Amino acid sequence: MEVPWLLLCLALSLSVVPPAASQRQQQPPPGCRRRCGNVTVPYPFGIGAGCHRGSAAGGFRLRCDDARRPPRLTVSGYGHEVAAISLPAAEATVLLNASRACYDRPGDPGGRVVSLREQPMELNGSAFLFSSMKSKFVSVGCPGVAYFTDGDGYYVTGCMSVCRPSERALPGSCRGDDGCCQSTIPLGLASYRPHLGSFRGQETTFLANSTACAYAFMVDAWWFWFAGSHFNRTGDFAVPVVLDWAIRDAPGCAAAQREPDNYACRSAHSVCLESSNGPGYVCNCTDGYRGNPYVVDGCTDVDECQHRDEFPCYGACVNTPGSFTCTCPKGSSGNATILDGCRPDNKFSSALKAVIGIAVPGMRF
Ligand SMILES: *[C@@H]1O[C@H](CO)[C@@H](O)[C@H](O)[C@H]1NC(C)=O
Ligand SMILES: *[C@@H]1O[C@H](CO)[C@@H](O)[C@H](O)[C@H]1NC(C)=O
Ligand SMILES: *[C@@H]1O[C@H](CO)[C@@H](O)[C@H](O)[C@H]1NC(C)=O
Ligand SMILES: *[C@@H]1O[C@H](CO)[C@@H](O)[C@H](O)[C@H]1NC(C)=O
Ligand SMILES: *[C@@H]1O[C@H](CO)[C@@H](O)[C@H](O)[C@H]1NC(C)=O
Ligand SMILES: *[C@@H]1O[C@H](CO)[C@@H](O)[C@H](O)[C@H]1NC(C)=O
Ligand SMILES: *[C@@H]1O[C@H](CO)[C@@H](O)[C@H](O)[C@H]1NC(C)=O
Repeated sequence: MEVPWLLLCLALSLSVVPPAASQRQQQPPPGCRRRCGNVTVPYPFGIGAGCHRGSAAGGFRLRCDDARRPPRLTVSGYGHEVAAISLPAAEATVLLNASRACYDRPGDPGGRVVSLREQPMELNGSAFLFSSMKSKFVSVGCPGVAYFTDGDGYYVTGCMSVCRPSERALPGSCRGDDGCCQSTIPLGLASYRPHLGSFRGQETTFLANSTACAYAFMVDAWWFWFAGSHFNRTGDFAVPVVLDWAIRDAPGCAAAQREPDNYACRSAHSVCLESSNGPGYVCNCTDGYRGNPYVVDGCTDVDECQHRDEFPCYGACVNTPGSFTCTCPKGSSGNATILDGCRPDNKFSSALKAVIGIAVPGMRF
């Protein structure tokens, strides 16, 4: 009788022991808000103190302004509006106001800039960097020259956008001669400071079809590709930019794993991947698991049998941890993961095989 009582006491006392401070810091307390408007906010991101990883200015702390309709999610200390966060891709989409230069007499070589708006974006000190893979720098309007510098004021990249007369249009899009130009963004970039200029008033070469304003912005390349063919905006507008984020308090996986208390990949069935942009690492669920690798038990088994479109099975589907089996119905065999992959077991042919099996050795004699 005494032994179970002791065990019960032990169990109770263990369950009320608070987790070690460092461990507590790397996990969100329960009750944190995980949604702002339509945007979900998974850990390591969080809304408000204590709900995110790292320091307040590290980029994982977000603010949700419910006074706005729709509610507006921003990166605390930076102010960038967040439109989406992806854990598996380790990306975030934020909005950037386009920069512009507008002229008083478009088409007139003597036209002067009447309004200039150059909108920088600073990420330095945060977990974010501009995505070199998914974002690009674009200028639209003609004629215009646009470039941007980094936080130290050094030139990064830029391009020149001119309009050929439309009857002389060359094939392709956003090539620099069609009122649009683009350039790629280097890895490791944390500051974007655009500058707009023009060469109006210099040569008639550049003055075919000039526009009232020239714009420049960094932008999600896919978004621009879809919007670009009919990109015709006037006034002020914002565009989506893709950022890469990573856990940057360790240079990479090996170093992070040497400090288990601070290691961000908390879930079983999670893996550590080196950051593809800048120092640090990201976590992902292993194959067959999905969810949040940054929280304990965050990666959960995918029930492949419930997602036949993604994991086709035309036979008997049985989910297993991290995988699934798909077998042909009884009385048939083959590959049940392909349409018409199962063939009925043919009694006649198996009988024939049996006959041949007996007959062949017989033929030797
Ligand atoms: C939120 O999602 C709903 C449904 O998809 C959509 O109608 C609505 O416009 C979205 N709101 C915002 C702010 O994106
Ligand atoms: C994480 O895993 C998902 C699904 O397996 C995959 O699509 C994604 O590319 C992975 N992310 C990275 C950064 O490798
Ligand atoms: C972007 O433009 C909007 C509307 O013009 C303005 O309210 C907002 O403050 C601007 N954002 C930044 C970061 O300048
Ligand atoms: C970002 O860079 C600017 C200028 O280089 C600097 O003044 C600022 O302190 C930096 N911010 C952080 C968080 O490092
Ligand atoms: C300017 O562009 C417009 C719209 O693309 C086109 O209709 C017009 O012909 C162009 N003008 C010249 C001089 O190329
Ligand atoms: C751009 O849009 C404005 C109004 O939305 C329209 O008046 C103008 O003709 C359009 N220009 C082109 C070149 O499509
Ligand atoms: C069944 O077909 C799929 C798709 O072609 C293939 O990937 C898989 O290896 C096949 N399985 C067997 C057991 O042959």
